[in-house]
Amino acid sequence: MRVLGIESSCDETAAAVVEDGYKLLSNVVASSMDLHAAYGGVVPEIAARSHIESITPVIEQALEQAQCTWDDIDAIAVTYGAGLGGSLLIGVLAARTLAITKQKPLYAINHVEGHVYANFLTETTLPNLVLPGKQPEFPILALIVSGGHSQLALFRDHFDYTLLGQTQDDAIGEAFDKVAKIIGLPYPGGPSVEKKALEGNAFKYQFPKAKMAGKYDFSFSGLKTAVLRTAQAEIGEDFTFPSKDIPERLSEAQRADIAASFVRIANETVVDKALLAFEEFSPKSVVIAGGVAASPPLRKQLADQLPIAVEYTDRKLCTDNGAMIATLGCFTAMHGQPQADPYTLDIAPNLSM
Ligand code: KG4
Ligand code: ZN
Repeated sequence: MRVLGIESSCDETAAAVVEDGYKLLSNVVASSMDLHAAYGGVVPEIAARSHIESITPVIEQALEQAQCTWDDIDAIAVTYGAGLGGSLLIGVLAARTLAITKQKPLYAINHVEGHVYANFLTETTLPNLVLPGKQPEFPILALIVSGGHSQLALFRDHFDYTLLGQTQDDAIGEAFDKVAKIIGLPYPGGPSVEKKALEGNAFKYQFPKAKMAGKYDFSFSGLKTAVLRTAQAEIGEDFTFPSKDIPERLSEAQRADIAASFVRIANETVVDKALLAFEEFSPKSVVIAGGVAASPPLRKQLADQLPIAVEYTDRKLCTDNGAMIATLGCFTAMHGQPQADPYTLDIAPNLSM
């Protein structure tokens, strides 16, 4: 069973071919990230336009890299939500058109569930990818941390999971991106804040950890505001001082200490809840998923504190990609889940888990 996966929910146009839900044959990602950097965040219109330009070459390249023709492809899987409307539309329309013209079954994939399935890839023909030695075993505790989502879910089996908790406001990646903007570091904030944090004192500032009514729920907006207030206070200004004028007044040391103190609390927040859920549900495996799962300190912190061994997927498969969509597409097909109608499949920008 070979599935072509197509992903276009945000600023990455991506396609990949996966065999039987474990073997990655190709993985092509074209990002419009550089075009958004000047604005400090993804601009939906720019993202949609670059998906239009990239989608066909990216799909063709994914087939070529996998050394496949259309005859070798058994099904097409595409992200239909959640994401930016204009961005999702390009991937879904491409997938629908190809499903009709190449006469392939079509599967509609939830982007966030897809992130979790990146962890099922254990073999690849591609160079420079380090994958886990074996697939995770059910029940699986999944910590999903991305630019749009922060969630803890318990997967009892394929297509049988419970959402234990989620963010009530900003996602953790969104908090990284906003903090980067406040202290004057480049977009995307995850990698840049983390790099700066290496130079700073993580205990310089005591940022708050949100207390939530739901045991496994998160909140990051208070943390982000605490960073803003601290930055304003450090330069001797009050809360009315515009955030856009803060970066030029901060020293490199202040920037690094704020970054380090923020990263410590943000990572602790999600690791604490993952450990709590581990104790309550005793899963056989723990996986992390989503762009922030590429973070080396987060990976280390979680692995160090869990009582079981964890194997992470390659960092390149944490941020948005087609491989995760193709992998979940394989399982969807192999488990006889319903196909999507290529004539009517609609996007679902607000799709939840
Ligand atoms: O999963 P993803 O590619 O897109 C969404 O589905 O949201 O996640 C993007 C997020 C961004 O907020 C980015 O700042 C964050 O992942 N990110 C990281 C790292 N690389 C990307 N956060 C922390 N450390 C990283 N190395
Ligand atoms: Zn994502």
